[in-house]
Amino acid sequence: MSDPNLNTYNSATVIKWYDHLDALTPIEKYFFELHKDLILRSNILDIGIGGGRTTAYLVSICKNYIGIDYSKGFVETVKTKFPNADIRLIDARDLSAFENNTFDLVNFSFNGIDYVSLDDRKKILSEINRVLKPNGVFFFSTHNKDHTTFDQLPWRNKSNNLITNLKTFIKLLPFLPKHLKQKEKEIRLKEYAIINDSAHNYGLFTFYTSPRFLKEQLNTYHFYDIALFSKNGKIENDETLDDWIFVTCKRSVT
Ligand SMILES: C[S@@+](CC[C@H](N)C(=O)[O-])C[C@H]1O[C@@H](n2cnc3c(N)ncnc32)[C@H](O)[C@@H]1O
Repeated sequence: MSDPNLNTYNSATVIKWYDHLDALTPIEKYFFELHKDLILRSNILDIGIGGGRTTAYLVSICKNYIGIDYSKGFVETVKTKFPNADIRLIDARDLSAFENNTFDLVNFSFNGIDYVSLDDRKKILSEINRVLKPNGVFFFSTHNKDHTTFDQLPWRNKSNNLITNLKTFIKLLPFLPKHLKQKEKEIRLKEYAIINDSAHNYGLFTFYTSPRFLKEQLNTYHFYDIALFSKNGKIENDETLDDWIFVTCKRSVT
């Protein structure tokens, strides 16, 4: 069956967009610096590499690097950029290419985990847990359902001015008929939602989670030492209004 998110991640314009990204976010810099010693002696699995933004940083410093993506276009792009790197076409829902207890660190950056259903997100968490060594580290980010502008019309974002909002509306106008059809497939529940937000011209169904539900899921899949961060630092009491939640956690020994 056709997967609208995979179609978007295989489209030439989207590939070009990610191809140009090269900087790490401040939280990523902080995390990679904090774990530099581990990274230097690590087997790393980098999932959802896109245009290779994190490949550029990790491949040169870790012991063994494997980068994967389910988009053929991204895999080809990154193979061209890093011809000596181990880059593979693999879907995170099925990591059977890897043995149990293989990696010291798994990275799934830029909310790549948010482009599947709830059941498939569970599969991904279970697979990552399986391929991590005991006490191995999982680092990723995800969209926050408690974000102040969650589910708001993109051209009514209060932080923008009128001209910006008008430009956004005009840019998105041609894609609105498709969006209105896709809205029927959206899911909105208290703890999570899967919505067709305006990213890549309404090209994606994106998973948004509350911090509480996120932690609950990680506990269910046997992760511990769970720490959530927003752009402003550590999240206390599961409360943040930021758009992204950055997560570090470890695979439990049992
Ligand atoms: C938002 S982009 C981020 C790209 C890159 N990590 C970066 O930080 O620039 C999400 C990436 O995750 C990949 N992705 C989404 N679902 C995936 C899955 N189930 N298995 C593997 N890759 C996936 C997409 O193809 C895309 O490259």
